[in-house]
Amino acid sequence: MSTVESQLVGAELSEQLIAIRRDLHRHPELSNEEFRTTEVIRSWLTEAGVRIADYSLRTGLIAEVGGLREGPIIALRADMDALPIQEDTGLAYASEVKGRMHACGHDFHTTVLLGAAALLKERESELKGTVRLIFQPAEEKATGARQVVESGALAGVQAIVGIHNKPDLPVGTIGIKGGPIMAAADGFVVEVDGLGSHAAVPEAGIDPIVTASHIVTALQAIVSRNVSALKSAVISVTKLHSGTAWNVIPEKAILDGTIRSFDPEVRSHVLKRFEQVVQGVAAAYGTTASLRWIEGPPPVVNDERLAREAEAAASALGLHAVTPVPSLAGEDFAIYQRHVPGLFVFLGTSGKQEWHHPAFDLDERAIDPSAAFLAAIAQRLLAERA
Ligand code: NI
Repeated sequence: MSTVESQLVGAELSEQLIAIRRDLHRHPELSNEEFRTTEVIRSWLTEAGVRIADYSLRTGLIAEVGGLREGPIIALRADMDALPIQEDTGLAYASEVKGRMHACGHDFHTTVLLGAAALLKERESELKGTVRLIFQPAEEKATGARQVVESGALAGVQAIVGIHNKPDLPVGTIGIKGGPIMAAADGFVVEVDGLGSHAAVPEAGIDPIVTASHIVTALQAIVSRNVSALKSAVISVTKLHSGTAWNVIPEKAILDGTIRSFDPEVRSHVLKRFEQVVQGVAAAYGTTASLRWIEGPPPVVNDERLAREAEAAASALGLHAVTPVPSLAGEDFAIYQRHVPGLFVFLGTSGKQEWHHPAFDLDERAIDPSAAFLAAIAQRLLAERA
């Protein structure tokens, strides 16, 4: 790391941020149970003189910096929940809670947003509007963003910026890309109706196993025949259950799986074709099928103007903006983007393991440049919109 990056945050704040991240890491809390984490954030912000905004959230918290004069509102969002994973890092500050771990680095995101809050507080008189800080609960369950939106915390917001650590990017780099960056992650459950009979007399029944097998095969043609080769989608059937005995044709077959996509039009077309194929194949075999969607978050699609502004903010700090490879994981940040233009950026953390791994860890030297970047982009977006 260059000296430029190490001087972006003062030594005292830098030490405080490392301490707070280690404290959060020791005490991971699952989605919608982030009570201690919320209190840690509240007391730290209060100590720093940052005002807590009055939105009713059971866990999570909204705060504000700036607003000393009329002006736009820019939101910054970090998530804060952990995962039901047993930590295996051997760190001195490893999780003290059995079977719970900050294995996606949301402790880091919370810390980075606290750092940005402190930096913005130092420059409060220069801010050309208000920065709303969203500490969002329950990202891992993809329900927290909805809770925040329902609390009214997006009212008046002109743009929102979200962050996620990225193990494959080195410390000091910021992954910025306009357009799709994280996938829509939908689930499905298909129940194929059969008519039971003796295995030796199939003509007396309707075999749901044969029907389900043809459905699985026919679904494979959707991505290859209905999606442009220049776009992408994935359909994976990951479970297929049927039958109870070797000599009985069963009453039903159930198949589950997931559909991943980036482009909203591709997504809706694939979902439509999926339904047609399931019903059409079932009808061809003289039966019916029911289909239940488990709607995941939509894709995260970044605003192009915000992406350009973020690149300018990064380079003004001497940080290296890179174009990241999109991820097929889902992110409920997409919910905010239904309401306001949004940008989801990746923060380089030089990690050795991918997200959700029991040995997941990140380089703490990523905290300072990430906090400095987040403060800088907020300040820039306000100035551009004032
Ligand atoms: Ni995550």
